[in-house]
Amino acid sequence: MRKTDRNIMSEFLTRYSTRTFSNQIPSRENVLDILEAARFAPSSGNEQPWRFVLGWKGTELHRHILETLTEKNQAWNEGTPVFLVLIAKQRFTRVDRENHWANFDLGSAWGFMQIQAQRLGIATHAMAGFDAEAISRLLELKEEFQAVVVVALGYYGDPANLSEKDQLRHGPKDRRLVEDSIWTE
Ligand SMILES: Cc1cc2nc3c(=O)[nH]c(=O)nc-3n(C[C@H](O)[C@H](O)[C@H](O)COP(=O)(O)O)c2cc1C
Repeated sequence: MRKTDRNIMSEFLTRYSTRTFSNQIPSRENVLDILEAARFAPSSGNEQPWRFVLGWKGTELHRHILETLTEKNQAWNEGTPVFLVLIAKQRFTRVDRENHWANFDLGSAWGFMQIQAQRLGIATHAMAGFDAEAISRLLELKEEFQAVVVVALGYYGDPANLSEKDQLRHGPKDRRLVEDSIWTE
C-alpha cells in the first residue's frame, strides 16, 4: 500500500494502473466527465494540444486499437471496456511553429483525467507499448498529430483473473521519497 505523512487527496494514493477490468462498461457521461477534467489543464499559450479518440468495447475501432498494442499489452487488454488514444498536436494553431510542449501539456491533461477517473471509481492505465505507425494509419492522423499513449479505461477488476506474474505486481505501487527527487533547495 501507499502511505504518506503529507496532506494530499486520497485519489493519489488509491489509483493504480490495473491490468484487470470488470465487465461493467463506464457510461458515456462518466467518460465525458473525465475528459472534461482534462479540458481545464494548463497548456502553453492555452493551445490545448490534446485530442482524444474513444474505442468502446464491441466496436471495430476497439478491435483495431487492440491490434496495434504490443503482444504483452494485448494479453491483458482483451476485456478492456474503453480505449482512449491520447493525441498531441505538435504545431501551434495560432502561429505556424512547432509546439515543443505539446506532449508535456497532454501529460498534464492526462494527470487531471486520472484523478477525476479515480474520483468516479474508474481505473486508467496508460500504455506506450503500441505501434505508433499503425495507429496513425488507423486513425488517419495528419503529420502534426502524434498518438502519445493508448489508455485502457474501465472499472477495477478482480485480480484473481490475472496471471500469477501480474497478480504479484497488481495494486498501488510505492514511490521513492520526495526528498530523493529534490536535488537542491
Ligand atoms: C507513458 C506511460 C507509458 C506506459 N506504458 C505501459 C505499457 O506499455 N504497458 C503497461 O503495462 N504499463 C504501462 N505503463 C504503466 C506504468 O508501468 C505504471 O504507471 C507505473 O509502473 C506506475 O504504476 P501505477 O500507475 O500503478 O502507479 C505506462 C505508464 C506511462 C505513464
